[in-house]
Amino acid sequence: MARRTVRLQGHRDRGPWRRGPGASWAVLSVGCATVGGVRRIHPCFEDDPDIPAAYAYPRDHWLRLNMVASADGAAWVEGHSEGLSGRADKRIFGLLRGLADVVLAGAATVRTEGYRPARPRESWRALREGRPPAPPIAVVTRRLDLDLEAPLFAEAEPYARTIVITTESAPRDLREAAAAKADLIVAGDEFVDLATAMGELRARGLGRVLCEGGPRVNAQLAAAGLVDELALTVSPLLVGGDAARILDGVASRTPLTLAQVLEEDGFLFCRYVREAQDEASG
Ligand SMILES: NC(=O)c1ccc[n+]([C@@H]2O[C@H](COP(=O)([O-])OP(=O)(O)OC[C@H]3O[C@@H](n4cnc5c(N)ncnc54)[C@H](OP(=O)(O)O)[C@@H]3O)[C@@H](O)[C@H]2O)c1
Repeated sequence: MARRTVRLQGHRDRGPWRRGPGASWAVLSVGCATVGGVRRIHPCFEDDPDIPAAYAYPRDHWLRLNMVASADGAAWVEGHSEGLSGRADKRIFGLLRGLADVVLAGAATVRTEGYRPARPRESWRALREGRPPAPPIAVVTRRLDLDLEAPLFAEAEPYARTIVITTESAPRDLREAAAAKADLIVAGDEFVDLATAMGELRARGLGRVLCEGGPRVNAQLAAAGLVDELALTVSPLLVGGDAARILDGVASRTPLTLAQVLEEDGFLFCRYVREAQDEASG
């Protein structure tokens, strides 16, 4: 499954890239030219920045959208996000999961990208102190066309049971079947009311939300004024074609402030926060 599953911990020392939980954010510099590792390029230059601190949730109810796009704005290549991702993107993707109380995704993303439960990582231990070792996955769906025997449901740990967010009008038998394998949230009649759903998650102590798309869910979240932050990876790639942008659906305007840019291997990691958001309040 896409960029989501690769447990890649970038580490460049004097040898080849190593993968594994012990890897660090080490950087190798030659003179003033950084040749490996993440560096901050906005709002100030810094080699080997503290990445968890760079993405710390400003408050305990906050919705962060995490997406990767090509340089020409495509949200997928041949139907998947994997072709847009890279080493550092995967690391940051994993870190953002480690920081979140819950990972939210639309059912099409879950189906297309083959979502599984988030697995605890050693590197998350400090990030998740006082919380379960991994966040649950919450799936937004109207049709409930989900494989309830799949690992996303069958292999979820009791502390992070998968959450299904659906509607009153979803078929009763499918709702009952889902409730047997997952925690069920019913929010809305014909369509999930995402503001209500966010309130339900927050009531369960899951206020730090990481939404991983897809574009159709993103568009609704933005239109409802629910997006506090966009963590956008810009991939150094042109793809053309007819892929959606990272928001696909109803038009809306959410003014953003560029809070931070990191860079590695030509990938940009932009952190935008919604304008007029006071990160310290709440
Ligand atoms: N570039 C990236 O970072 C990134 C990230 C994620 C995904 N993607 C790509 O994006 C594509 C999938 O995204 P997408 O935009 O097509 O779909 P999506 O947003 O992932 O999911 C859409 C589905 O979510 C459910 N849904 C959405 N809003 C709903 C509402 N208000 N009420 C009830 N159900 C609702 C429906 O599921 P049901 O059909 O089950 O009713 C709908 O079909 C894939 O190609 C994936 O690879 C890219």
